[in-house]
Amino acid sequence: MSLAPSAAAETVVPAALAALAISKSFGRTRVLDRVNFEVRRGEVHALVGENGAGKTTLLRILTGREQPSDGGLLVAGKMLPSLTPTLAQTYGIAIVPQHVELAEHLSVADNIYLNRWPTRRGLVDVAAMRREAGRITARVGLELDPDRLVSDLSYVEKQMLEISRLYEFDPRVIVLDEPTAALSVKEIRVLFRLIKQLKSAGIAVIYVSHYLSEIASISDRVTVLREGQGGGVLSHRGRDYRAHHP
Ligand SMILES: Nc1ncnc2c1ncn2[C@@H]1O[C@H](COP(=O)(O)OP(=O)(O)OP(=O)(O)O)[C@@H](O)[C@H]1O
Ligand SMILES: [Mg+2]
Repeated sequence: MSLAPSAAAETVVPAALAALAISKSFGRTRVLDRVNFEVRRGEVHALVGENGAGKTTLLRILTGREQPSDGGLLVAGKMLPSLTPTLAQTYGIAIVPQHVELAEHLSVADNIYLNRWPTRRGLVDVAAMRREAGRITARVGLELDPDRLVSDLSYVEKQMLEISRLYEFDPRVIVLDEPTAALSVKEIRVLFRLIKQLKSAGIAVIYVSHYLSEIASISDRVTVLREGQGGGVLSHRGRDYRAHHP
């Protein structure tokens, strides 16, 4: 990686997470070309761009699901060449995937404790699990019966359940990849209320959307990806819409 520390420091000191001149090729296809992107604590940063612009690829790199071909990441003040999903989790970087990945045939409580059930004398402590599940879902404003099957929940309830699960890992950055694609207008309002709550808790939120009206109402800054290149950051809270090119 060939980034001068001073250049990095200038762009990213306040960042909770940043991509620095990230490139990514699949075979001969260059999907990302020296993209810079950063998200700060307590900010909702929208990532927009047409289909195939490389948004999901960038998110996958930021969350350790994909390795960059070049460039680096700045995570909690540290320069790293890349992340793994486990390392990302250690740093509190979490992703709500484009399609919900809950176990539909299991209950709300089971999904919260999937693979890490609380035990008491070697047995799963079901009472503790239900109690804790209620506490965890309440934190995102969800009032759900912990015994309800996930397949009976609405889509927004499932998303909120995903987010409440992330809360267990002390999230600093939450990435939402097109979270409203399957939501009604009313459900979008519920989700936005939750995003505002994440923001006021100081969490950095990266939000991918195709809808300008949504972006205007929820995001503090917008980065446009165009043909694999970052087209600059547009600030729309505070000053003006002038793009500045990092
Ligand atoms: N694992 C992969 N192998 C090969 N090509 C890939 C891979 N993942 C993504 N691509 C290609 O990279 C490009 C960018 O894809 P990506 O999914 O990042 O775009 P996107 O901006 O998220 O698009 P959308 O708005 O449709 O979700 C596409 O041309 C896609 O086909
Ligand atoms: Mg995508």
